[in-house]
Amino acid sequence: MTKKIAILPGDGIGPEIAEQAARVLGALGLDLEMKTAPVGGAAYDQHGHPLPPSTLKLAQESDAILFGAVGDWKYDSLERALRPEQAILGLRKALGLFANFRPAILYPQLANASSLKPEIVSGLDILIVRELTGDIYFGQPRGVREVADGPFKGERQGFDTMHYAESEVRRIAHVAFQAAAKRKGRLCSVDKANVLETSQFWRDIMIDVAKEYPNVELSHMYVDNAAMQLVRDPKAFDVVVTGNLFGDILSDEAAMLTGSIGMLPSASLNASNQGLYEPSHGSAPDIAGQDKANPLAMILSTAMMLRYSLDLPEQALRIEAAVQKVLEQGLRTPDIHEAGSELVGTTQMGGAVLKALA
Ligand code: IPM
Ligand code: MG
Repeated sequence: MTKKIAILPGDGIGPEIAEQAARVLGALGLDLEMKTAPVGGAAYDQHGHPLPPSTLKLAQESDAILFGAVGDWKYDSLERALRPEQAILGLRKALGLFANFRPAILYPQLANASSLKPEIVSGLDILIVRELTGDIYFGQPRGVREVADGPFKGERQGFDTMHYAESEVRRIAHVAFQAAAKRKGRLCSVDKANVLETSQFWRDIMIDVAKEYPNVELSHMYVDNAAMQLVRDPKAFDVVVTGNLFGDILSDEAAMLTGSIGMLPSASLNASNQGLYEPSHGSAPDIAGQDKANPLAMILSTAMMLRYSLDLPEQALRIEAAVQKVLEQGLRTPDIHEAGSELVGTTQMGGAVLKALA
């Protein structure tokens, strides 16, 4: 049966890297229907909204979404509801993409790219499972109000609401325990239970769900300590599960351990395995349109899509092997370039992956 893929290139380097990913996907000889739609700032320019109804509809009707990146400084002064970031938040919410997988893998060929000592990071393979549709990101009420009482009475006050419902914690817990069971069997739940009620509740539910996974070893860590341990001894982690806000922060930190955020894919899944696949990096408007962006994170996101949403694991392995091969050949985009390697552009890198697939 034909699988429907929505390609949402977005802003900055998004279109360039999405083009390379689409080339690679097209070369696999699969029965795919690929349709492209604008998202983010590009959609705002064309339709006056970062997530126009036509783009949302295309996404909803597809089996999987390949998402480039959104955001550019030129939209920073727009009201919040019209900013490019609302497109990705809106897609996550509308499609119920609650489970976000962010692997941080150090490719042996890139061991020197990390700012940490090679012995600390060599062989690094962490999976961060971030809850993606709840927490303070979406909690209501939020806004600016007048303080009613106390020392700040009469002043304006900005506020947000952090909360997690039991079913929200349970479902991400199951996803994380199942992921850990397929790996080294260690799951670290990160929270701030020493201060936050939401976190204590999260921790209690994690402990309860753990009873169903006797082969997975559950540990708990406060988020401040986790931030520290990630740079002190990152290899001590296998799978990390955490809420939306802490996951946002820790996943950037984990990505940087590998020295190359341009290499890391991500997957965001809902309960029916419909998924959105995007590189972990952003839109990098400073290098947009210059053929400098690393397309590998986007190409590897395509591999995750084949594995999780299209149930074609052997095709995913083909792409991953092709990426390994181009790294072995010494090809490097500027972000991972070092002395002795061959500097290539976005298009050339995509072409090399295509060639390696054959
Ligand atoms: C991410 C990004 C988004 C987030 C932004 C663009 C809204 O930082 O995917 O990590 O905060 O979730
Ligand atoms: Mg982030």
